[in-house]
Amino acid sequence: MTPKSVAVAGATGLVGRHMLQVLEERNYPVKSIKLLASERSRGKQLPFRGETLPVEVLTENSFRGIEVALFSAGGGTSKKFAPCAAHDHCVVVDNSSAWRMDPKVPLVVPEVNAKDIKWNNGIIANPNCSTIQLVVVLKPLHDAAKIERVVVSTYQAVSGAGAKALDELLAQTKAVLEGKQPECNVFPHPIAFNCIPQIPQSDAFGENGYTSEEMKMINETKKIMGDDSIRVCATTVRVPVHTGHSESVNLETEKKLSVAQAHEILSKAPGVVVLDDPAKQLYPLATEAAGKGETFVGRIREDLSHPRGLALWIVSDNLLKGAALNAVQIAELL
Ligand code: A2P
Repeated sequence: MTPKSVAVAGATGLVGRHMLQVLEERNYPVKSIKLLASERSRGKQLPFRGETLPVEVLTENSFRGIEVALFSAGGGTSKKFAPCAAHDHCVVVDNSSAWRMDPKVPLVVPEVNAKDIKWNNGIIANPNCSTIQLVVVLKPLHDAAKIERVVVSTYQAVSGAGAKALDELLAQTKAVLEGKQPECNVFPHPIAFNCIPQIPQSDAFGENGYTSEEMKMINETKKIMGDDSIRVCATTVRVPVHTGHSESVNLETEKKLSVAQAHEILSKAPGVVVLDDPAKQLYPLATEAAGKGETFVGRIREDLSHPRGLALWIVSDNLLKGAALNAVQIAELL
């Protein structure tokens, strides 16, 4: 690959910093790199490949001469600035939800639908973190036996809600252990020693009773898998885990898949690692998945309530495969 001029918009954020780390670790061919953030970050510096680089303020003119821009600076920023970048012949890989369901914008997980990158018009959307790890596992099973229905409940890490949310988890945990009242600023209820079935915590519930995160999992799964007929029901829950989203998944297939067949299919699937030996208490754990790029699957068993049902436990690092790594993999395919 010929070296590219790259920009990272939202470089100072949790995901932005992981994007820099992944570009470095995967030796992405960077000709030059521009780090962009808001006015608040004027004067800040960030490390990249042994150098310390200045953070610049993101403006409409930031993308002149840039070939690839990774965006993780919130939906409003993407809506405003991604078209400016595309206009300047830069390809944007956008981690926000701003463009994901736009029919003119491909929504890509390289292991699932890399071919969709071809029809981009300058913006490619990086899917929702919980959806990415789900479809990486669903796709090979769908190809083998056609998935008709998926029921998923998530156990999502606090790092998915940003740096301030992580600070709140730590402060609340300390307060509770000291017998004090936990203070809530980011979450509407204490997240320490608790589970909150509302993601994102700041959005109102939809009229149908679902959160926007749940609707993202439903709609994005269909778009990435290229199959509107897959029925999905999602319940998304924030749990007091630092990093690594876990998911309990029940799926129903048109053709029966045995546990042994599912094991075999998943052990050959790109980006998937099967960790499934109940006798040895081996199954995926958020603490083990954190810092790794793969999606881990285990507890593969028959769903005893359905003749063609399977139950699975899926875990991945929400900041890596769920965000920064998937974005860099897309950039590698460009
Ligand atoms: P800044 O650090 O200057 O606020 P996180 O999701 O971890 O909170 O990170 C959000 C990222 O998006 C940060 O890098 C933040 O920059 C950046 N950001 C937020 N709003 C804007 C904006 N209006 N223009 C540019 N960057 C923004």
